[in-house]
Amino acid sequence: DCVHVFAPATVANIVCGFDVLGFALDEPGDEVTLRRTDKTGVHLVNITGDGGRLPREAEKNTVSASVMTFLKHIGRTGIGVEIELHKQMPVGSGLGSSAASTVAGLFAINTLLGSPLSRRDLLPFAIQGEALACGHGHADNVAPALLGGITLVRSYEPLDVIALPAPQSLYAAVVFPHVDVPTRDARQMIRTKVSLKEAVVQWGNIAGLVSGLFTADYDLIGRSMHDVLIEPTRAILIPEFYEMRKLAMDAGALGFGISGSGPSVFAFVQSRETAARITSAIQSHLMQQGIESNGYVSGI
Ligand code: HSE
Repeated sequence: DCVHVFAPATVANIVCGFDVLGFALDEPGDEVTLRRTDKTGVHLVNITGDGGRLPREAEKNTVSASVMTFLKHIGRTGIGVEIELHKQMPVGSGLGSSAASTVAGLFAINTLLGSPLSRRDLLPFAIQGEALACGHGHADNVAPALLGGITLVRSYEPLDVIALPAPQSLYAAVVFPHVDVPTRDARQMIRTKVSLKEAVVQWGNIAGLVSGLFTADYDLIGRSMHDVLIEPTRAILIPEFYEMRKLAMDAGALGFGISGSGPSVFAFVQSRETAARITSAIQSHLMQQGIESNGYVSGI
């Protein structure tokens, strides 16, 4: 009567697809352990790896709150569950930290109870968890954390999530500079009105990127990785953003951008070696500026 689940970090937006595109990384990620107990209710018994930053009350923590909503939905609020959350990835990194925890918790409770819901049916609960953690219920982190690979949120109402193919030689280089950019703030600063001209550029790029994924056209993927709506504003919060982009592009990246709301950045590349070269070039540059960082290389 104990389930242990890992859920991966994710890169939301994939540059041009604000709130609609995202993909899962191999690592890092979060681990949740769920245990049945005789004591009725949902008990958050242990959180490690968050440096004390996450709420400890069961109602306020996204993992336990999502588990409660799930139990209510399936009519099992009478049972007792103990939750342990082991964060193996940075909080506030723009790598879908809250999504990884929430998805791990929901997958664990569903498994513990004999999978009454399908994996996809867990999505709405995970989105509610994001609303609690970030102030907005976006699905571009939780969808890939739950389903793996690359996902497109075609529509929020009604929810319509599509799994997209990943070409064989697509890898990600990811760097998390240790500066704080909370999703809540990074969302508040972006403008809510866009011009038709900019919208045309943006949806041209989104369609180009999706098309490139289907046809394994790496050049088209790269050409489409531009964001005229959000990145110019958010890049201001990320030190060395344009220098990091130049380093990545000079080292052979297909495209480069902000991961989610930042401060993490990522590049799409065609080999693990290039990805490793890019993370180390960016990390050394940041180190010279006195900024510590984590680097990750992942298949897609
Ligand atoms: N799409 C969301 C945003 C993801 O960019 O604000 C947050 O990680």
